[in-house]
Amino acid sequence: MTDTAASACPVDHGGQGTPPVRPAGGSRTAATTLTPRPHARSNRLGLLPVTASALIKGWGFEDGIYAHFAGHDVTRFRVGLRKFVAVTRPEYVEHVLFEHSDRYQKSVDFAAVDGAIGVGIFSDNGESWKYHRKILNPMFTRKHLENVYDLMLAPVEEAAAALPTEVAEIEMNDIMVELTLDVVGNAIFNQDFKKFFPEDLGWWITGGLTEVMGFARFLMVTEPPALLNKPFWALLHSSAPVPPPLSNLQMAMKVVLGGVDAVLEDRIANPTDTPDMLNLLVRAMNEGTMTPERVRSEAAVGMLAGHETTATTMSYMWHLLSQNHWARDKMLEEVDTVLDGRAPTVADLRNLPWTSACVDEAMRLYPPVWFGPRTALVDDVIDGHHIKAGTTVILPTYLIHRDPRWWPDPEKFDPSRFMPGADKGRSRGAYFPFSGGPRTCIGRNLAIMETTLIAARFSQTHTFETMPGHDMTPLALPSLRPSNGLRMIAHPRT
Ligand code: HEM
Repeated sequence: MTDTAASACPVDHGGQGTPPVRPAGGSRTAATTLTPRPHARSNRLGLLPVTASALIKGWGFEDGIYAHFAGHDVTRFRVGLRKFVAVTRPEYVEHVLFEHSDRYQKSVDFAAVDGAIGVGIFSDNGESWKYHRKILNPMFTRKHLENVYDLMLAPVEEAAAALPTEVAEIEMNDIMVELTLDVVGNAIFNQDFKKFFPEDLGWWITGGLTEVMGFARFLMVTEPPALLNKPFWALLHSSAPVPPPLSNLQMAMKVVLGGVDAVLEDRIANPTDTPDMLNLLVRAMNEGTMTPERVRSEAAVGMLAGHETTATTMSYMWHLLSQNHWARDKMLEEVDTVLDGRAPTVADLRNLPWTSACVDEAMRLYPPVWFGPRTALVDDVIDGHHIKAGTTVILPTYLIHRDPRWWPDPEKFDPSRFMPGADKGRSRGAYFPFSGGPRTCIGRNLAIMETTLIAARFSQTHTFETMPGHDMTPLALPSLRPSNGLRMIAHPRT
């Protein structure tokens, strides 16, 4: 994009001392005590070229708007009617996610999630989000997950046993998608998801998300009033088939929501007394603490958010290990020493620091959730930069995770960055694959346990090499994923 009117707008000073703060439409007003930093580099992009680029390329990754944030502390731009600020300093991320999270909420961009699967904790805000998150939290505590560890282990054992016994080509990304869906089904819902979702679920989700990006571009340009937004989604939810390019999205919604409905109906017809999320949701519905629509959305959120991200993390980790045999050798040594050939127990997971550091480093280089948009609820000041209420603040995770200012030799795969103690002095805003603060990923504990478990178990019996020439360029949908899957050669270990 040649259009960056990259006028150096130095820090957006509000004058010396405390900058003036405009109250926002009767809402609270906030100011920080931070003073402007003379060296903070700020960038401003031109309205027309950026709007055109947004419509043609969306957020883009290599060649879209996103690329312009690199190396700038703050990038201001407008797309159509919307005002944006992208911030890349870790302390700014801390400000938004942790220290002053009450000044921000999920942006209008999450309306696509609401439209497709209904409002759930992923996209909800305010008191309603707080209320529902509190109900769901007990399913995701470490203690609860340790109690259901065997349910997590079973599908991993099954998948490891199904790996080829001779050198053979495999589609690793498909294996990871299926496995992580099984794990979240078992561990959180205590239900065998295979029966309820088609084998090509991953394909439908990718197709659906690709088309959601079209709607996301529309959202980037304007915040459509509910009047426009609602009929659009109502049409997609109706039985009337819509034409391409929205037909895949409609089908993906049917596949996901149809499966979720079947899972819920099955549990209602066959009650159990197990402590799992399905029972929690069905009980909440029966007791009237959650509406049936909300129950359906929360189940869909848990199922969707609970597997795609983990599958992407694992795929990139296998690929990075195949490119970095030195790191893989260390992992094999650790796994062999600690486990001595037996399946990992929940206690073992804590004794596999290098293995889990390999997962962490994969999420640094390829964070599955690659940017987090928030809307400022009030006028705010971040380190001297004024943020007007209503502005969308972008936290570009992928760029911050690869910024040489915070990560020496950033392109290098080096798990030692995540060995115990290595993060001393590192800002929480320099590495945030699970976001942070009150809106941190509810499935974080599950994801950490699950990824370490899969990495260790698969490595006990096999090593994996990416097929020569296979292109691992990420496809930047709402979540990141390998655009061409992951073709690998599995080598059984002798
Ligand atoms: C490696 C795996 C995972 C990664 C990298 C990841 C990342 C994230 C991120 C960055 C967010 C915040 C998004 C935002 O604020 O814009 C998030 C939220 C969420 N994640 Fe995850 N996630 C993972 C696994 C899981 C799992 C296993 C589950 C559930 C079983 C899950 C369920 C959720 C839910 C429900 C939210 C919304 C939480 C809220 O706002 O209260 N995630 N995740």
